[in-house]
Amino acid sequence: MLLDGHIFKYAYSIIVYMFPKDGRMTLTVDDIPKQWYNIAADIGSPDILNPGTMKPVTAADLSPVFCKTSVEQELDKTHRFIDIPDVVREAYAQFGRVTPLQRAYHLEQYLGTPAKIYFKREDVSPTGSHKLNSAIAQTYYNKRDGSEHLTTETGAGQWGSALSLACNYFGLDLTVFMVKVSFEQKPFRRSIMETYGGKVYPSPSPMTRYGKSVLAENPTYGGTLGTAITEAVEMAVSDTTGKTKYAIGSVANHVCMHQTIIGQELIAQLNELDIVPDHMVACVGGGSNFAGFAFPMIEKKLKGKADTEFLAVEPSEVPSLTKGELRYDFGDSGCITPMFKMYTLGHDFSPSAVHAGGLRYHGMNPIVSELYHNKIINAVAYPEEQIFEAAVTFARTEGIIPAPESSHAIKGVIDLALEAKKKNEEQVIVFNLSGHGLLDMVGYENYLRNRKNPAVQI
Ligand SMILES: Cc1ncc(COP(=O)(O)O)c(C=O)c1O
Repeated sequence: MLLDGHIFKYAYSIIVYMFPKDGRMTLTVDDIPKQWYNIAADIGSPDILNPGTMKPVTAADLSPVFCKTSVEQELDKTHRFIDIPDVVREAYAQFGRVTPLQRAYHLEQYLGTPAKIYFKREDVSPTGSHKLNSAIAQTYYNKRDGSEHLTTETGAGQWGSALSLACNYFGLDLTVFMVKVSFEQKPFRRSIMETYGGKVYPSPSPMTRYGKSVLAENPTYGGTLGTAITEAVEMAVSDTTGKTKYAIGSVANHVCMHQTIIGQELIAQLNELDIVPDHMVACVGGGSNFAGFAFPMIEKKLKGKADTEFLAVEPSEVPSLTKGELRYDFGDSGCITPMFKMYTLGHDFSPSAVHAGGLRYHGMNPIVSELYHNKIINAVAYPEEQIFEAAVTFARTEGIIPAPESSHAIKGVIDLALEAKKKNEEQVIVFNLSGHGLLDMVGYENYLRNRKNPAVQI
C-alpha cells in the first residue's frame, strides 16, 4: 500500500473526530504519582548471590558499588510502596511528566483493524526516553548519600544521556562507558552526554584493567553492555574514598521500581477513559521499561482485577527470554558483579551489531524473568529488518520516528492488531513508546537504502 502523504490524507479525519477524549489523554503535574510500586513486596524476587560465597548478598556487599539508598531499595522485599521525594517529583514535572497517553488512530486505519491502539509517550522526555525516570531518582539519592562522582554504562546512549542530564541537575560528576559499536553508530549521543557535562569513553576502553585486557585480546572488539558494566563498576569500586558510585540503567529491581511511575500514570489515564487493556506490550533490553509500564497492571491481574495479557518483545539477535536459560549468571562480562537469577544467554554472549543498542544485553531483570517463567507474561522475538519496517510504518502513520528499541513493541502491536482484524475483535492494545529515534537515523538510513522486501512504499 502506498503510504505517501498518509498523515495529510488523514488530517481531515482528525477534524472529523474533533479531538475525541481518547485521542490524547494528559493529566496535570499534580497527578504525578507520590509513590513508586515495589512488586517484590507482593510477589518476591529471587535472592541476588555473592559469587564468592554463593549466599544472598548483604547490604555491605553492595555498598562499595551503589549508594546507601539504592542498596536499600534493591534489597527491599517488604514495602509495597516507596515515597517519591518531593525534589524528584519536581524534577519529573520539570522534565515532562505526566507523559501523554495517545491513541494511534492512523495506524489503526492503515492496518484496517478493529483494535484500538494506545501508546504511552516516554519519547517526550528531553533526553528522548524513559531512562530519565530512574536517572533522576538514582542521582538524587547519590547526592543525598554523599557521592560526588557516578560511573555508568550505556548502550544506545539513552541511559547515558539521561544520567548526564540528571548529574548536571543535581551537581555530580559522571563517567560513561559507551558500548563501542553504539559510540560509532550514534556520535550525537556522545555530544548530548558531553553537552550536559558527562565524560564519555568507548567501551572497551584503556581506562580500566578489564577494558585493557579485552583490548589486548581483541583491539577491534565492538563491546557489549556487559563489558561496559564491568568497566563502570571497576572504576567505582577502585575509588577508595567511597565518593564514586555506580548507577545502573536497567536490570536491577530498584530501577524497575523507579520506572513504575509510567504504569501508575497509565492506569490513572486508562481509568479516566474507562478502559482496561486486553494487551500491554513493551520491548525488553534489561527489562526496566517493560517492568515500569506493566508491573502496576500485573498487580491488578494477579488480584483478579484485570484480564490483560502482557507481551515482552526482544530482538531475534539477542533472544534472552525466548532462547535464554533461567539460571544464576553474572550481570556483567568481567564477572565482578553479583549473580542474578535470570533468563540469560551467558555473560560472555556477544550479540551482532543490531541498531537497537539498548536491547543488546545478555540477561533480564529477575522479576521479569520469573513472570515469564510462570507464564504470567509472554515474549516474542523479531529480526531487525521487521523492526525497521514496523518503525517506518509507525512514522508514516503517526508522524513519530520511534527508537529502534521501541519499534520492537510496535512490531508486536502490529501483529496483535492484525490478529484482531482476522478474528474481527475490537481489542484494546496499549504499548510503551519508550523513546524516539531521532538520533538513530544511521539505522534508518541503512534500512531505507538496503531493505530487500519493502512492505511500504516510500
Ligand atoms: C528507547 C529505549 N527503549 C528501551 C530500552 C531497553 O531498556 P529496558 O529494557 O531497560 O527498558 C532502551 C535501552 O537503552 C532504550 O534506549
